[in-house]
Amino acid sequence: MFNNFILIMEITAVYRCFLLLLLLCIVLNCRGCMDEERDALLQIKTSINSPDGTAFSSWFGEDCCQWEGVECDASTTHVSRILFQHQRDQSLLENWYPNATLFAQFRDLKELELPGNRIEGFTSPDELQKLKHLQRLNLHDNSIENASHLCWGRGQLPSLYSLDLSNNQLKGYLPECLRGALSLTELIVSHNYLQGNISAWLSNMTSLTLLDLSNNQFSGSFPSFLVQSLTNIETLKLSTNQFKGRVSFSSFANLSKLSSLDISYNAHLQLETESPTWFPSFNLTVLSLSGCNLRNIPSFVFTQNHLNSLDLSDNNLSGPFPRTFRNISSQLASLDISNNSFNGPLPEDINLIFPELLFLDASLNVFRGGIPPSFCRLKRLHTLILSGNKLRGAIPYLLTSNMSSLEYLHLSNNNLGGDALPKIQPKLKVLDLGRNDFTGTFQDSLSRSFSQSLAFPQLRVLILSGNRLQGQIPQQLCRMRRLSVLDLSNNNLSGNIPNCIDNITSWTAVDQSRAVHIYFITALDLSCNRLTGSIPLQITQLKAIIALNMSHNLLTGQIPASLGNLEALEALDLSHNKLFGELSQELTALIFLGFFDVSFNNLSGATPQGNQFNTFQNASYVGNPGLCGFPLERKCGPDIRKQSHVMSNMARTYSLLFHCAFLILVVNVSFLFSIV
Ligand SMILES: *[C@@H]1O[C@H](CO)[C@@H](O)[C@H](O)[C@H]1NC(C)=O
Ligand SMILES: *[C@@H]1O[C@H](CO)[C@@H](O)[C@H](O)[C@H]1NC(C)=O
Ligand SMILES: *[C@@H]1O[C@H](CO)[C@@H](O)[C@H](O)[C@H]1NC(C)=O
Ligand SMILES: *[C@@H]1O[C@H](CO)[C@@H](O)[C@H](O)[C@H]1NC(C)=O
Ligand SMILES: *[C@@H]1O[C@H](CO)[C@@H](O)[C@H](O)[C@H]1NC(C)=O
Ligand SMILES: *[C@@H]1O[C@H](CO)[C@@H](O)[C@H](O)[C@H]1NC(C)=O
Ligand SMILES: *[C@@H]1O[C@H](CO)[C@@H](O)[C@H](O)[C@H]1NC(C)=O
Ligand SMILES: *[C@@H]1O[C@H](CO)[C@@H](O)[C@H](O)[C@H]1NC(C)=O
Ligand SMILES: *[C@@H]1O[C@H](CO)[C@@H](O)[C@H](O)[C@H]1NC(C)=O
Ligand SMILES: *[C@@H]1O[C@H](CO)[C@@H](O)[C@H](O)[C@H]1NC(C)=O
Ligand SMILES: *[C@@H]1O[C@H](CO)[C@@H](O)[C@H](O)[C@H]1NC(C)=O
Ligand SMILES: *[C@@H]1O[C@H](CO)[C@@H](O)[C@H](O)[C@H]1NC(C)=O
Repeated sequence: MFNNFILIMEITAVYRCFLLLLLLCIVLNCRGCMDEERDALLQIKTSINSPDGTAFSSWFGEDCCQWEGVECDASTTHVSRILFQHQRDQSLLENWYPNATLFAQFRDLKELELPGNRIEGFTSPDELQKLKHLQRLNLHDNSIENASHLCWGRGQLPSLYSLDLSNNQLKGYLPECLRGALSLTELIVSHNYLQGNISAWLSNMTSLTLLDLSNNQFSGSFPSFLVQSLTNIETLKLSTNQFKGRVSFSSFANLSKLSSLDISYNAHLQLETESPTWFPSFNLTVLSLSGCNLRNIPSFVFTQNHLNSLDLSDNNLSGPFPRTFRNISSQLASLDISNNSFNGPLPEDINLIFPELLFLDASLNVFRGGIPPSFCRLKRLHTLILSGNKLRGAIPYLLTSNMSSLEYLHLSNNNLGGDALPKIQPKLKVLDLGRNDFTGTFQDSLSRSFSQSLAFPQLRVLILSGNRLQGQIPQQLCRMRRLSVLDLSNNNLSGNIPNCIDNITSWTAVDQSRAVHIYFITALDLSCNRLTGSIPLQITQLKAIIALNMSHNLLTGQIPASLGNLEALEALDLSHNKLFGELSQELTALIFLGFFDVSFNNLSGATPQGNQFNTFQNASYVGNPGLCGFPLERKCGPDIRKQSHVMSNMARTYSLLFHCAFLILVVNVSFLFSIV
């Protein structure tokens, strides 16, 4: 009885509380969300993945202001921001054509962001005109080709200041609706196929602070005199277009707010950097002048002492590592001078010139001599790329052992020698020492390294190809469990392939999350050595491996039938060995195989038939006198199969690359960066 009383009291209290809230709500006008806006949202939700409408399973309740991706104005409770990101189901074949009439319901909408939804355009795009308060429209990473399916009519969005149409497939001239969109301060149309002369169009856009036209096909003369009129510009990106003619840098002189400038890769542009004499009124933080046919570093660069990132790659710069870099900026974090003709020694005091450096790419130059110890004092360095020079001597011990931030080290294609595997600090992810002059036995090298450090816990990529390493492949290698690329090709390694190879978990574990990423290469290249013994059965456990090259060795025995288990395999090269026996029909389970080569062994019997094997040609099998069946001339018996002369594109690509040291070509720097 007493308990019941308390219960009743509590209920009454809760009820009173509720009434009070309700009253407050009426006074303060907190109505949840507007009915027509909720209806519109629900219709949009249905249409995103129509007919199934699987988007936004988390939306429930009446108050749409609480729904994921929706924000309301606190005072009016009208929807003010919509952010639907990557909601379109990627497995649907068709692009999405949202109905602009639905978005037009949100009369107070200020920000509409729909990136990554495979939008090809809007139906009734004119309806967008009703969004008089729209300030930001973001359609980044969609599939818009024809601007008519987006354009809302001329100059009709008076509040719009930020428009992002980057990463679409826009073709032709700049969309009509952008001409005279004078309110715009941020315009991003990079990564499309836009073309034509932007001069007339740009002439009135004096409010712009950010203009990104990069990666399009804009042509015509460089709009110097118009650039001058962009007096508020802070970020200007014009790279990778087809602008023509002479440009005097003096036209940038008075853009005092300019902070980030990228005019790289306009092959037909002639940059006049020195005359007429000019002095910049800006302090840049980011400057990119790659692929600009420069023969000298423009002198204005040395006035820029706020630079954070400087890219001078792919030019024709020569002379010693410029001492005058000292003038640039002690804050410089990223410096790229790759693919020029700089020569002479690397600076002895780089740690004093650029103490804050995180990223340095000086590859593809003609730097000579050793790697100075000063490089080991770059405390924050994350990436060092010195490949493709004429460097000699040993890797400074402290470079790999005491630089606790270093994760990517590329020293390939030099004349470095000595111990190939110095002590390695545990954070290193990529070690590329291919095509140098490292000698000694691999076993000793690795043992020394292991005795001093942990088992390379983070190492993803180890490239030691094209050196003079001898001896066996040591078992310790199998302790590098996160290796995804191992290239030991073109050495003088002997003995058996270690049978513990299945301890390397990144090769055995098929990680579903990886499949989503664009391309995650897993490769083992042992080609062009003197390896003996048979192919260890453990190889057949490497279910995640994409490329396997054991060609040009002295391997004997049979090709295990269970290689057919390697479901991810795209390239298999076992050519130029002493393998014998038959090729198992089970290999046809390798449905991603684009390149296959078992030529020059001692194989016999019938070639596998079906799936990918119908696309391989003679070259895959030659030099095995005992083999018969398609595509070989020699018949095994009655041959009822149709001849096929198709060769997939992938097969072509691999056959170009897949020689002794294919990885050098496949595993380029940009890929290595994608490994995290
Ligand atoms: C767009 O939505 C409006 C309002 O719901 C509707 O009347 C119109 O028919 C729709 N248009 C298309 C092409 O579906
Ligand atoms: C773009 O779309 C409009 C309207 O649908 C159409 O008239 C025009 O032909 C299209 N342009 C191209 C290049 O497909
Ligand atoms: C630029 O503005 C001027 C005057 O304000 C006008 O006459 C001209 O048509 C405009 N040009 C463009 C391309 O909108
Ligand atoms: C680009 O347009 C401007 C202004 O309309 C004009 O002066 C110039 O000659 C054009 N350039 C080319 C290459 O068509
Ligand atoms: C930059 O401004 C100065 C002073 O206002 C002026 O003399 C000069 O001509 C301007 N330069 C350019 C390229 O507009
Ligand atoms: C650029 O930096 C210098 C100091 O390094 C400063 O005196 C100057 O005012 C800055 N200029 C601008 C436009 O910020
Ligand atoms: C080096 O730069 C030149 C342009 O200066 C370019 O044509 C070439 O492709 C670049 N080489 C590499 C390997 O990037
Ligand atoms: C690079 O500059 C040298 C002179 O310094 C010149 O002989 C050579 O032709 C230039 N190369 C290119 C690709 O412009
Ligand atoms: C670099 O700075 C020094 C002193 O700060 C100065 O004497 C020299 O002229 C500057 N060099 C360049 C190329 O600006
Ligand atoms: C290793 O680096 C630390 C700081 O990064 C430094 O204090 C130490 O002196 C370095 N060790 C050697 C042997 O140079
Ligand atoms: C391979 O893994 C097994 C089981 O984890 C372990 O016993 C063996 O020592 C490992 N072999 C090598 C060479 O690391
Ligand atoms: C390869 O190693 C063997 C010893 O294992 C040695 O006799 C031979 O000279 C080496 N070949 C080359 C090219 O270094």
